Amino acid sequence: MRKLPPRTRFFAYDELATALTYKEGASPFVHSLNGTWQFCYLQSPREVPAAFRAGDYDAIDWQTIKVPGHMELQGYGKPNYTNISLPIPVDPAAAPANNPTGLYYRRFSCTPQLARQVLRFDGVDSTFTVWLNGQLVGDGHGSRLMTEFDVTDLLKPGENTIAVQVEKWSEYSFLEDQDQWWLSGIFRDVTIIDEGGLNDLQITPQYQEGQWQIAVAVQAEANAHLRGKVYFAGQPVAEAALPTGTTTIPISAPREWTDETPNLYTLVVADDAAGALVPMRFGLRQVEMIDDQICLNGEPVLFNGVNRHEFNPETGRALTQEYILSEVTQIKRAGINAIRTSHYPNTPYFYDVCDELGLLVIDECDLETHGMYVTEMPTDDPYWQGEFVSRAERMVHRDFNHPCIVIWSLGNESDFGENHVAEAAAIRKLDVSRLIHYEGDRKTEVADMYSTMYTPVEDIEKRAVKLTHQKPHILCEYGHAMGNGAGSLQDYQDVFRLYKSVQGGFIWEWKDHGLKQATPAGPQYVWGGAFGEPVNDGTFCIDGLVRPDRVPSPGLLEYEHVIQPFQFFVAQNHVVVKSLYHYQTTRDLVLRWQLEVTGEKVAGGQIALPALAPGALSPVLSLELPEAGGVDAMLNLAIETTTVQGVFETGAQLASQQVAYQGLPAQPDAAATVSQTPAAVTITRGPLTVTVDRGTGNITQLSQDDQKVLAGDMALTLDRLPISNDMNVVAERQKERIATLFARCESIQMTQNDDTVMVAIRQRIAPPAINWGIELAVTLWVGAAGVTIRTRGWFDGEKPTEVPRIGYQLPLTTTVRTVDWFGRGLGESYPDSLDAAPLGHYQLNRDQWGFPYVVPQEAGNRMGVRWATITTATGPSLHVAGLTPFNLNVVGGDGQPLGNQSSDQVRLDARVQALGSNSCGPLPLPRYRLYTDPFDFTVTLNLQY
Ligand code: GAL
Ligand code: MG
Repeated sequence: MRKLPPRTRFFAYDELATALTYKEGASPFVHSLNGTWQFCYLQSPREVPAAFRAGDYDAIDWQTIKVPGHMELQGYGKPNYTNISLPIPVDPAAAPANNPTGLYYRRFSCTPQLARQVLRFDGVDSTFTVWLNGQLVGDGHGSRLMTEFDVTDLLKPGENTIAVQVEKWSEYSFLEDQDQWWLSGIFRDVTIIDEGGLNDLQITPQYQEGQWQIAVAVQAEANAHLRGKVYFAGQPVAEAALPTGTTTIPISAPREWTDETPNLYTLVVADDAAGALVPMRFGLRQVEMIDDQICLNGEPVLFNGVNRHEFNPETGRALTQEYILSEVTQIKRAGINAIRTSHYPNTPYFYDVCDELGLLVIDECDLETHGMYVTEMPTDDPYWQGEFVSRAERMVHRDFNHPCIVIWSLGNESDFGENHVAEAAAIRKLDVSRLIHYEGDRKTEVADMYSTMYTPVEDIEKRAVKLTHQKPHILCEYGHAMGNGAGSLQDYQDVFRLYKSVQGGFIWEWKDHGLKQATPAGPQYVWGGAFGEPVNDGTFCIDGLVRPDRVPSPGLLEYEHVIQPFQFFVAQNHVVVKSLYHYQTTRDLVLRWQLEVTGEKVAGGQIALPALAPGALSPVLSLELPEAGGVDAMLNLAIETTTVQGVFETGAQLASQQVAYQGLPAQPDAAATVSQTPAAVTITRGPLTVTVDRGTGNITQLSQDDQKVLAGDMALTLDRLPISNDMNVVAERQKERIATLFARCESIQMTQNDDTVMVAIRQRIAPPAINWGIELAVTLWVGAAGVTIRTRGWFDGEKPTEVPRIGYQLPLTTTVRTVDWFGRGLGESYPDSLDAAPLGHYQLNRDQWGFPYVVPQEAGNRMGVRWATITTATGPSLHVAGLTPFNLNVVGGDGQPLGNQSSDQVRLDARVQALGSNSCGPLPLPRYRLYTDPFDFTVTLNLQY
């Protein structure tokens, strides 16, 4: 058999220095056949002249073509863009009568040097037959897979000839119906490689009992004596003899590979008898499921990925190494950490770049039968099983050693059935060190993760809150970036970060694939139909984050911002930065800040950031800010590098954020202290003390010089007394159990400087018995301004559509005496009833606060409140200021309208429900209703005498 069984792709070198460069062009054992070939374009294989088969090449009337390249982009035939539909009859048993066929021919000189010569095709679309020196070598298919032939006995020293016949359509086209331009020809490298005794090499990194090692599986000629030496940064670090079979080599002082720390080792296999060195790079990284999460080196992964087609607007899927390097660098600079090779194995060099720059790759099998759905599902047809399986095996063998590949994908949009089951089994047999993905496997029968496309945020949340053991969810496609779009990327990112079982996704797609065409108006990018294709899918190929020329669209800028590796927390003049990295400790970064008032810069500066461990909060950084505040005072923050770091230049901006500036508090500096017990965290600053319960995450006490203000938890609640116009929704509210919420603290992180403490709390609150809840991210600052609380919340599960209010309830130890406020007044206001309540500075006594409706019900809300001072019968008064206007109300401690209660309750609400007139008329208009959308509000509380 001349055709080699699938195996790893490798090259031999003659010297260590060149072997370690990993540049095949530097090897004397690599003979590239790329370049200009003679070419003859025919309408069908029936037209192939007898002279071609006979090896009488001089008798043929040749034109020329560039290899690698596509026929259709060099004047032979036309491109055709389809997404799903096949542009030919859906009949794999018969190729169309008109089947464009290209004859390729060239002379080359090559002097065989080592024991064996291998002819390698990295990609030919869709089938081909090859002759060397007039002798039939064999045929190949699987457009985006490698095909190799042993040509040792056919190759002569000196001049040789090679001829290739390529057909555009074949039965395999039906398995390659990806959403792309139909482009055929020899579009990847053609090479002859000299080889010594090594036949195949698979390196599996293993982490066992605290020690890294590699398992090196070698297949070699019987008489070969191979030795392996491992190099890191050019220096040898380990070595071992490599007999056929598997050898384990321990790696001491290991430097792990992750997408953030792409440390690469090179194993150099020396075949002294042959004088050949085969370098193979690897990375120390382990992919595994831990606690139902996809983990890389023990840490759960968050995929902030893109789907990437191989595409160049001028050369289609034929890409140069320079183009691949610059494109993957652009992706990495955008902060993207993962690429799905939608929907086929890529040009081999792509994986080298991902190994070097640090990108996590889902390597996808060249298999999509989308257009066949109209007749049959090949996945259930035993006829196709061998082809499904061999495509997967060829991919796994070729790409096995790349650390960047963390997941194998069975293909795209090919339904799910027996042949996929066989494909997955074949992959698991070859490689136990990676996970399997397939979006069509909805019940995750063989896939390690649940993968979906374009799933609405609500549906992601619904599954995510099911806390039973389940495989993690990723979105192999989301954020359809066609034209102007995609929207809601931040909403997706929020759910990715909130729920442990959701591990991110891949934007569809990286780049527009518009072909560059000369038109009377000059060169333009064109889409389906531009070549008169009767079956085409129009602009569906123009759906990327960047244009065909890789100019970033606003969609990419949005995505970069959404996935940036730092989070900012701000209150008054204090900033805390959180590293969202998983593996690397930050270094050489500055926080640059600028205060603008109505767009004019009034102050600015920069502060060096201390090194931050993965996931860590910085200390509280205090900025030298002026007094300026108000609605149009904005603080612009950015994090920049001060040295070159990987793909980032000095001065590169890694993250930025704008926040409204709250102004400086008038209070003096004072020392802040934190005391902790397993039950609670207590923060004291001057006379103020704040206690947070570790079990619930709620503030349980606020006190001033030991005078306690709270009679119970300051909890986020949703309920209020029903109004008469609620009479038809009361029963539903009871079923939703909004009045009995349980709070649980999921995590609490703290940081501080001398006078300010910040606590970041993740909470979940949920009713008993039924399936919905709210995820809360609360940041609490105790500083000169008092306690600033930013609360963000996301409803999830089978959630109520509307709730009566969203906000904090502060049960006081005493009653309210007076309320002094700036906001709507003097009387009460609700979203659909506020015209008679202008903004102003008002003051009322407790007995004037709520209107005394004859039937007791909700009363007294004041909307649009900027600040309020609430004096009490005994103890300190409470001052509240909102970053944005909030709702204020005071009711009895029992939740009833104010009367003769002995203690009261203050409510600080982000939003309240409207009134309507549904007791005998309509519900509130939709625009006034309080839907269970995510919410975000900030209030600052301070106690005073
Ligand atoms: C998906 C498919 C992609 C692309 C996208 C629409 O269903 O997997 O290949 O066609 O839709 O742009
Ligand atoms: Mg498709």
